[in-house]
Amino acid sequence: MATHGKNIDQVTDKTAIKEMNVKLLHTLPADLDRQHLPQHVAVIMDGNGRWAKKQGLPRIVGHRQGVDVLKDLLRCCKDWGIESLTAYAFSTENWGRPSEEVDFLMVLFERVLRKELHEMCMEGVRITFMGDLEALPQSLQAEIQHSMAETANNKAVRFNIAINYGSRREIIKVCRHVAEKVRAGELNPEDIDESIFEQHLYTSGIHDPDLLIRTSGEMRLSNFLLWQIAYTEIYFTDILWPEFDRTEFHHALVAYQQRDRRFGKVK
Ligand code: FPP
Repeated sequence: MATHGKNIDQVTDKTAIKEMNVKLLHTLPADLDRQHLPQHVAVIMDGNGRWAKKQGLPRIVGHRQGVDVLKDLLRCCKDWGIESLTAYAFSTENWGRPSEEVDFLMVLFERVLRKELHEMCMEGVRITFMGDLEALPQSLQAEIQHSMAETANNKAVRFNIAINYGSRREIIKVCRHVAEKVRAGELNPEDIDESIFEQHLYTSGIHDPDLLIRTSGEMRLSNFLLWQIAYTEIYFTDILWPEFDRTEFHHALVAYQQRDRRFGKVK
């Protein structure tokens, strides 16, 4: 039964109500202004371990649950018209965790990419990665290359995953590239500017994040996108990542739309 043109009070058929609820879920909430949505949202997915501990479960269960939350957030970005989502999946510092957890995460990344690739392709997701990927297990590197190649022409939403990423390391990498250009006589030091620098960042070609969300009550940046977030709005929430659902994302977007972004200027 078509629900088009009816409001939920006028629909009695159970299937039709379900259909309408699904539609509502996929529709931008009425209190959000479509014209002022962030183009690019970045997330620090924190609190998986604490969430699992609260349930009396091993930490890895929290990471597994975190994947489902990330998938739904990506779908939500697509449904609501947000162009890019960048997720901090593994930092250069995360190698310092117990080896079982590191190994689990590497296998999890690989398994998720393999399992979800077809669906992401169907949904028009373009997957990209940022970080020092050469240090990752070979089989994960192969899956990364495959998923980037398979989705390279997709346009519905960009899903950028930071693995073995550290912002300081990224900035040093850029400095080396630029210094090489100077040494080769291709660039004068006085011509180095922000745009030249940005061309060498992993995020080259992606709009800087408008909104950065960190879950779990921690209020720090943990070496994430330090250059790119110069004028990003930051939203901290006490919610643990495995509980960060569409409603929580909606709250973050409402808070974002209440901010007065002046970029250092006076309005
Ligand atoms: C931080 O929580 C979370 C991580 C280091 C891993 C996040 C990774 C995922 C959710 C998987 C994403 C998968 C793909 C394919 C991108 P924590 O363990 O530090 O939590 P805690 O602070 O409570 O211990």
